[in-house]
Amino acid sequence: MFSRLKKGVFLPIILILSPLGAAAPVSISVDADAKGVPVQPTMYGIFFEDINFGADGGLYAEMVKNRAFNFPQPLMGWKTFGAVQLNNEGSPFAENPRYVRMTGIKHSRKRSLLENEGFRGMGFEQGKTYNLSVWARQPENEKPQNILVNLVDNENNVIGKANLRTDSTEWKRYSVSIKAGQTCEKGSLRLILESFGQVDLAHISLFPGDTWKNRKNGLRRDLVQALTDLKPGVFRFPGGCIVEGSELPFRYDWKKTVGPVENRPLNENLWNFSTSGRRTPDYYQTGGLGFYEYFLLAEDMGAEPLPIVNCGLACQFQTKEDGQQPMDQLGNYIQDALDLIEFANGSPETKWGKVRAEMGHPAPFNLKYIGVGNEQWGACYLERFSEFSKAIRARHPEIQIVGSSGPSPDGKRFDELWKAMREMKAELVDEHYYSNPKWFLENAARYDSYPRDGVSVFAGEYACYVKGFSNSPNNFLSALCEAAFMTGFERNADIVHMTTYAPLLAHKEAWQWRPDLIWFDNLSLVKTPNYYVQQLFSNNVGDRTVPVTSEGKPLTGQHDLYASGTYDGANKRLIIKLINSGREARDINLEFKGIKSGQLAEKAQYLLLHASNPQTENTFEAPFSVVPVSGQITIKGDQCSFRIDAETVGVYIFQLP
Ligand code: AHR
Repeated sequence: MFSRLKKGVFLPIILILSPLGAAAPVSISVDADAKGVPVQPTMYGIFFEDINFGADGGLYAEMVKNRAFNFPQPLMGWKTFGAVQLNNEGSPFAENPRYVRMTGIKHSRKRSLLENEGFRGMGFEQGKTYNLSVWARQPENEKPQNILVNLVDNENNVIGKANLRTDSTEWKRYSVSIKAGQTCEKGSLRLILESFGQVDLAHISLFPGDTWKNRKNGLRRDLVQALTDLKPGVFRFPGGCIVEGSELPFRYDWKKTVGPVENRPLNENLWNFSTSGRRTPDYYQTGGLGFYEYFLLAEDMGAEPLPIVNCGLACQFQTKEDGQQPMDQLGNYIQDALDLIEFANGSPETKWGKVRAEMGHPAPFNLKYIGVGNEQWGACYLERFSEFSKAIRARHPEIQIVGSSGPSPDGKRFDELWKAMREMKAELVDEHYYSNPKWFLENAARYDSYPRDGVSVFAGEYACYVKGFSNSPNNFLSALCEAAFMTGFERNADIVHMTTYAPLLAHKEAWQWRPDLIWFDNLSLVKTPNYYVQQLFSNNVGDRTVPVTSEGKPLTGQHDLYASGTYDGANKRLIIKLINSGREARDINLEFKGIKSGQLAEKAQYLLLHASNPQTENTFEAPFSVVPVSGQITIKGDQCSFRIDAETVGVYIFQLP
């Protein structure tokens, strides 16, 4: 028990921890008898956007980049050798008409070849199976052709192979499964024409065999599992700025993302070339993870879907407000929103309900919410919002509408948007805040004084930036400050109905924006400290609030402490979240009102997230540097005393009989 002062000089630590110097315990009262307010099941959710290779190259498990040769540079992502020509005559797919014609090289050991580099490589795992599919035909009077399919590792070794033999002069889909003999992160796919005739190849696709729920055209299992583990109550999709597009023709058009994947047209990804310093010229949207896959995933996770539709405005940042669909030509955009509701909820007898049913889901998806516009602002937004909401309310009064409060969390524009949303009776208003630690700590009481007038808050995008905007690490400090702020969501559950961190996913080599909740490469993923905060909050929340106070006031930063409480009626648990953002440990005396002495189970469980250095990050090399740890504390009668360490996120769970 010695404290080190200078090299070789030690003092007994008792001097430092003497009762005179120690901070007095903080008394906290938990009023279990108070009525509280309901906590919505949608309180903690996820927000997905195809940014940072989030969909193509990420959640969407397709491993071939530019599988339909439909990028503006048709061979981007491909290497060719020998006689390989692009063509589009007699294509099987009207929306993606390009294919390649390969011709065998006679009288030579050379072969015509196609090689795809994947999304910053392809990740293969030893012993796992990969499914290749390709549409092929031989030209008239041509014999069957032999194609050798190779999985190739980082060092050009063949680690898996299969043969494919075409047998038709009509377009036909062929598939083979290939087992990888080695694990590698940056592999590639090779197709070698072994015979000497000609063959046409379209839509060349490679998926891992073990996609989420083993679905065809599936999603990456590990990433979906990480999302599922968050137990999201709501699932916002498809963005973000991507909803708006860099210009209106590139907006997210949901109708182009349903039906057979081969015929879903390509779209330019807004994040392709819009982030200076992090340009990603090979970033396009195949629509392979489209609206059907989205609704299905929301259903798998038990999350309410919250689609956001374009309201006739392209990205207002990028277009300097030029990209506006004229008001008298807004009809198609509004119809798209109504049709989306029909796609989700209409019976299979309706036009769009039929499309859904034919894709494999005759039952409705039970859509309850729709967001009109992303973080739009100005009169141009309000007049469009008004038209959309009139049309949606007239046809679908059962759907709740989410409106925008713009890109900033306060200011004139924000106030005007909120006022207008109230006047137009939006059910929820989407707020976005990307800010620094100070902001998050100082705003923990943000919602304590919000008007209670029937319009609810959707905190649709937020993240704490400890460094520069859009280029900040996911360190523990950022997660700690988010946790402190999130106690304010929970305390104000009567008006805060939905919250989603942003962005969700980022490929370690193809990101445009950080921080992000989950980082991944082609083989693995890293859960950030911010992820664990989200998980601690969403996995441990009751159905009604319980006041947690100190000296009669909610804890919103006194003694560097932040707190919220909920009661989980189904499991009879009181769940207290307590965050210590300060550099000193705090002794806590927790006192329960409305609970008879001895009624609480003698031991309470705690879950803590802490890092001795707040700059700590979880990395690919050390993914578990910051993870929750659990333990128990003892309760005596209706009181409980414990210490919360400096800079710690704590969840304390008390069991009632
Ligand atoms: O989350 C990243 C971006 O931040 C979103 O696309 C946009 O809505 C916000 O500006």
